[in-house]
Amino acid sequence: MPSYVITGASRGIGFEFTRQLSADLKNVVFALVRNKSTSKQLYELKRKNIHILEADITDKKALINAAQAVSKITNGTLDFLINNAAWIDDQRQNLTLDAYEDQDLLEEDLIKSFTINVVGVVHTINAFLPLLRKGEVKKVITLSTGLADTEATLQLGLATSAPYSISKVALNMAVAKYATQYKKDGFVFLALSPGLVNTSGGPLPEEVNKAQIALFSQIKPDFEGAITPEESVKLQLEVINKWTVADTGAFVSQHGNKEWL
Ligand SMILES: NC(=O)c1ccc[n+]([C@@H]2O[C@H](COP(=O)([O-])OP(=O)(O)OC[C@H]3O[C@@H](n4cnc5c(N)ncnc54)[C@H](OP(=O)(O)O)[C@@H]3O)[C@@H](O)[C@H]2O)c1
Repeated sequence: MPSYVITGASRGIGFEFTRQLSADLKNVVFALVRNKSTSKQLYELKRKNIHILEADITDKKALINAAQAVSKITNGTLDFLINNAAWIDDQRQNLTLDAYEDQDLLEEDLIKSFTINVVGVVHTINAFLPLLRKGEVKKVITLSTGLADTEATLQLGLATSAPYSISKVALNMAVAKYATQYKKDGFVFLALSPGLVNTSGGPLPEEVNKAQIALFSQIKPDFEGAITPEESVKLQLEVINKWTVADTGAFVSQHGNKEWL
């Protein structure tokens, strides 16, 4: 019975991982959410192999409690940890680092991105490591982004989304640190970008879609717009399943390479 813990499972890509993985009744899926009462979609799946647990990934105690709850059901083991939760600022993502009128707000965005997207993920990995050690598969997948790729940033001329991108670069290094430490124990750590995914729950406004196509066709001339969570997770699962310890610590896209779209 392969076991999975997925953080940020209330919506978006985390919800879709939960949906696709729980469709196989042999899997047991632990969906970690910040708030059960706002995780309606998960309850609507009505699947017996989904266990919904509450944990903010910046709350170490909540993570330890979640790990204990998982342990009780799996007999102390875990096969896959999918670090999906992240903070993505909707309000100020179009600002460049020098465009904040309020420097305190800039500092707040940089620190909040680091606290959730890096420190929170490190706490999550540490909380579940004892279970993963006893699991057969030992895969820790951490969602990153092509925006953390320096070459793509320079090619695109993309100076915005800075606090988020900077935090994901740091996250990639955290993944590499764990990977190099745990390679001898057979662990697979992977920083995985899901592509550009429309997680808004409906079609994107036409002007947003057009702007994304204009920007990203610079690096992928036939780019047709954001993909669905369903398509992204399907591709990511193919990468996750084929990835081996030989390439632990890598940072790749949903295609298993450096094609970010
Ligand atoms: N969508 C894309 O195009 C895209 C592209 C590249 C990378 N990614 C990466 O893919 C992952 C998922 O993205 P998404 O688009 O699905 O994001 P999303 O729709 O904004 O969902 C974010 C999820 O993270 C949870 N979360 C936020 N802060 C948290 C915290 N402190 N503790 C626990 N959970 C927290 C949210 O919970 P609540 O529901 O409680 O807010 C939500 O479930 C992220 O790591 C993101 O960086 C996405």
